[in-house]
Amino acid sequence: MTEKLSESAPEIRPGEASIALPSHTDAGLYFIGRIRTPWTERRQAPKNAREARERGDICTVEVDPRYEKALAGVETCSHLILLYWMDRARRDLVVQAPAHYKEGRGTFALRSPVRPNPIAMSVVKLVKAEGTKLQVVGVDCLDGTPLLDIKPYFASADAIPDATVGWHQKERAADA
Ligand SMILES: C[S@@+](CC[C@H](N)C(=O)[O-])C[C@H]1O[C@@H](n2cnc3c(N)ncnc32)[C@H](O)[C@@H]1O
Repeated sequence: MTEKLSESAPEIRPGEASIALPSHTDAGLYFIGRIRTPWTERRQAPKNAREARERGDICTVEVDPRYEKALAGVETCSHLILLYWMDRARRDLVVQAPAHYKEGRGTFALRSPVRPNPIAMSVVKLVKAEGTKLQVVGVDCLDGTPLLDIKPYFASADAIPDATVGWHQKERAADA
């Protein structure tokens, strides 16, 4: 799939800022598969992994058969971390003002797909593993989104139930 960056990029909003990106990239990566979902337009997709889990759609992670052996043991996991490449996002915004937030914030304080390296992550529930196809609940990406990596989710190491995002708490408190 060819990346379409500027063509599909929404207009910059008031309060947002863009930069000139470096003239070259520093590393290459391999797409290890594609994520198949019912969504072809951004507005149809769940806003985040929590909404995806609440909606409950079962999506299919299609792993390139060359990596079949790398999946050994994955079927024993209840939850996985998926890393994927938001191939239809622009990459040059450093301050973003999503419509649902009150003010602009730095890209690295946001989970927006718009970032210099448009890498997204979600913790998904593994419903079924069959060969190189994994059925999962919890992705929020468009159909055909390239898959970068799969890792087991270790609740013992990864869960930090009392973690906070100050600006988000402040906005929610102001809305209440
Ligand atoms: C806010 S991001 C969160 C992604 C990931 N769960 C994370 O936290 O890193 C999810 C949104 O990205 C947009 N999106 C999904 N797939 C995309 C793609 N392939 N390219 C660009 N934008 C995409 C959709 O609007 C979706 O609601």
